[in-house]
Amino acid sequence: MAESYTLGIETSCDETAAAVYHTTQGMLSNSLFSQIDLHRAFGGVLPELASRSQLEKIVPIVQSALVEANITLDAIDTVAVTYKPGLPGSLLVGLCFAKSLAWAAGAKLVGVNHLEGHVFSSLIENDVPFPHICLTASGGHTAIYLVEGWGSYTLLGSTIDDAAGEAFDKVAKLMHLPYPGGPEIEQYARRVNFRDDRRYPRSKIGSFDFSFSGIKTAVLYDLVKRGAYDLKQKKFLAGEDEVLRSEVASALLVCVGDIFLDRLANAVKQYPHVRAVTFVGGVACNKYLRERFQSYCTKRDLSFFVPSPQFCTDNGAMIARVGAHKASRGEYAEWDLDIF
Ligand code: KG4
Ligand code: ZN
Repeated sequence: MAESYTLGIETSCDETAAAVYHTTQGMLSNSLFSQIDLHRAFGGVLPELASRSQLEKIVPIVQSALVEANITLDAIDTVAVTYKPGLPGSLLVGLCFAKSLAWAAGAKLVGVNHLEGHVFSSLIENDVPFPHICLTASGGHTAIYLVEGWGSYTLLGSTIDDAAGEAFDKVAKLMHLPYPGGPEIEQYARRVNFRDDRRYPRSKIGSFDFSFSGIKTAVLYDLVKRGAYDLKQKKFLAGEDEVLRSEVASALLVCVGDIFLDRLANAVKQYPHVRAVTFVGGVACNKYLRERFQSYCTKRDLSFFVPSPQFCTDNGAMIARVGAHKASRGEYAEWDLDIF
């Protein structure tokens, strides 16, 4: 592979991210602005606010990625950018900016699928062997893949409704806990040592697909039954009851863990030649879930890889890395590349 610099730009949702990857020196920078504080008051991402903030942050974040990598724009050979899937307004900011920048710098343009970025994020820090099974879970997507090589991956199953992170965010909101809900759910669950007293339904056992909306409803009716939630007023009534919050959070997390391990077991059974497993996306920051994957894999002599948290949540590095691979194969985009 010829030596080259790739600038990766990611703006698909509520993070403005950029990174520089060099073919032999590796990842040279990874800059990020997260809008979490902006959306917290609304309990979720507000698309209009998200795109406005992308517009404000794109220049300083790209600049900081170049500075951290100790290069100037003219060194960049390829500009890789997320073009799908995501919030249209947010995606457009990154794509328009990437096109202008590539044009001005005389660089090539590469379009990257955000989900492909997550799938290969485990390879930023580790030499993960192929083929492997990848479970990706975040606020917008949950899926399981058979990954056979760079750019070569097969979707085995995905969520038919909510994403796993979305289930954490929604249940946290029900219990009047701040956005994003995932880290809150984990902290509360830890207080009762990941006990499962509520037994929420394990959905789609034995398949490759996921479904999380029924679990959210089960939690809602559990709260109603316990007098902790008023359906008419849409109000959480047990604000001071930390035991109840912890029990619900813990049962939800264990339930999601069981579902993830069931899907993994189904994949390992169907593809017994696979010797490695990866867990990626924002939900992969969860230490409890990481440990469950690790112990499952250790027992079966499978290698397990999970990116460090900065590469689990949305980031520019995964876009730069996949973009560099596409560039090495000459898979460039046309200037009329559109968002999807
Ligand atoms: O990958 P990401 O940053 O953005 C999307 O592409 O959606 O993932 C964000 C999601 C949120 O739903 C958040 O609640 C979840 O990841 N998350 C977690 C944890 N940290 C973030 N879920 C469970 N446990 C965590 N520690
Ligand atoms: Zn993502």
